[in-house]
Amino acid sequence: MADESPLIRSLRAAVAAAPGDVPLRLHFAELLLAEGRNDEAVAEAAVALQHAPGDAAARALMVRAMGLPAAEDPAPAPSAPAPDGSAPDAPAPSVPAPSFDWNAAEQQVQDLVGPRFLEDPQAADGDGTAGDAAAWDVDAPGSVRLADVGGMEEVKDRLEAAFLAPMRNPELRRLYGKSLRGGLLLYGPPGCGKTFIARAVAGELGASFLTVSLSDVLDMWIGASEKNIHDIFETARRQAPCVVFLDELDALGAKRSRTHHSGLRNVVNQLLTELDGIASGAGNEGVFVLAATNVPWDVDIALRRPGRLDRTLLVLPPDAAAREAILRYHLRERPIEAVDLGKLVKATEDFSGADLAHVCETAAEAALLDSARSGSVRLITTKDLLGAAKQIKPSTEPWFAAARNVAMFANEGGLYDDLLAHLKRKRKL
Ligand SMILES: Nc1ncnc2c1ncn2[C@@H]1O[C@H](COP(=O)(O)OP(=O)(O)OP(=O)(O)O)[C@@H](O)[C@H]1O
Ligand SMILES: [Mg+2]
Repeated sequence: MADESPLIRSLRAAVAAAPGDVPLRLHFAELLLAEGRNDEAVAEAAVALQHAPGDAAARALMVRAMGLPAAEDPAPAPSAPAPDGSAPDAPAPSVPAPSFDWNAAEQQVQDLVGPRFLEDPQAADGDGTAGDAAAWDVDAPGSVRLADVGGMEEVKDRLEAAFLAPMRNPELRRLYGKSLRGGLLLYGPPGCGKTFIARAVAGELGASFLTVSLSDVLDMWIGASEKNIHDIFETARRQAPCVVFLDELDALGAKRSRTHHSGLRNVVNQLLTELDGIASGAGNEGVFVLAATNVPWDVDIALRRPGRLDRTLLVLPPDAAAREAILRYHLRERPIEAVDLGKLVKATEDFSGADLAHVCETAAEAALLDSARSGSVRLITTKDLLGAAKQIKPSTEPWFAAARNVAMFANEGGLYDDLLAHLKRKRKL
């Protein structure tokens, strides 16, 4: 730029030499703005926000540079009570459709500048020996209900018939006797909603929810695991009605065969004792057991005998309606524009809930990076999302590859009939 002032020129050079210097960059942006070069100022502010997400000065400058009404509190959360105590839902009708969701943008920028290097997920909590965190928590009756689980009508129907109806009706339970006392084992590919559904079941029963991640339990409690398993069920009885959710149930079976850990036999036995106690009823009214695993074929067969975890429920990748619900959820606070959900739902067959979250994040990153580069903020479009969906491979594929063999060659007692039926439907057999 021939007529650029020397000050701007040297500041530009200084910023290029020290890209992480936020105050310097903001100073530069101020000057650009003073010269009416708003787009460039926006771009600089966007980069500053990447380095210092949430920086108030950068945000204020961005707002001014974009010519938005200078709001002191740019995007109050919709549910936040008004600071002056006036009715929280008093709308601001004079503000047309909000042009930009600053909170969401900020969050996304935060993601961008988050970890610069890929961390090994295992490394995060050291060698796997948990610190002093408890391996199980009890949540008060939660608000997640089956209605929050998008689509998956078949799963809901099965849950209602196999679990909820008998649990809600002690009479029915008595009528059918012990056959309805056992727990329910949810299985399926990773990230497809097992944990979420277990929570929803607890919500439906108005029950507390006690999650036990068995791999944590085993790591933390070497030597004391039996007593701790007993403590878990004692807690559940005190908190009844309570759903005990045994997550990663396979940790027991898989570890046993891998390491011949002698203590594990005792843990399994203790768990069997507790399950049988629940099946016998005495003192266990209102304690329900749900379990989940991605590898049901690694679960100790003794745990699946009648009266124990004798009913199974296959939780498949979300169907179209579920995918739409999940996508809506993950896009709810992101700055999007005319997103064609129908197209996106079609392009994400076999994606897990976790994959869909990943698609939304990737699309947001693309749009934000673009905004920062070009200097004009743009919203996330269908194209960004479809592009992200194309990049990401459904993480359920390897699971189906393994499950297919089990269903074909190890379907003893029809344990995997549901899975076989699904594979046939999808012509994967
Ligand atoms: N049908 C659905 N409706 C709404 N959200 C869903 C649905 N299915 C999955 N999700 C969302 O997808 C994400 C992953 O689900 P969840 O953690 O329950 O999977 P999981 O099967 O327990 O996975 P893992 O095997 O890894 O433990 C969650 O954020 C959950 O809220
Ligand atoms: Mg889970």
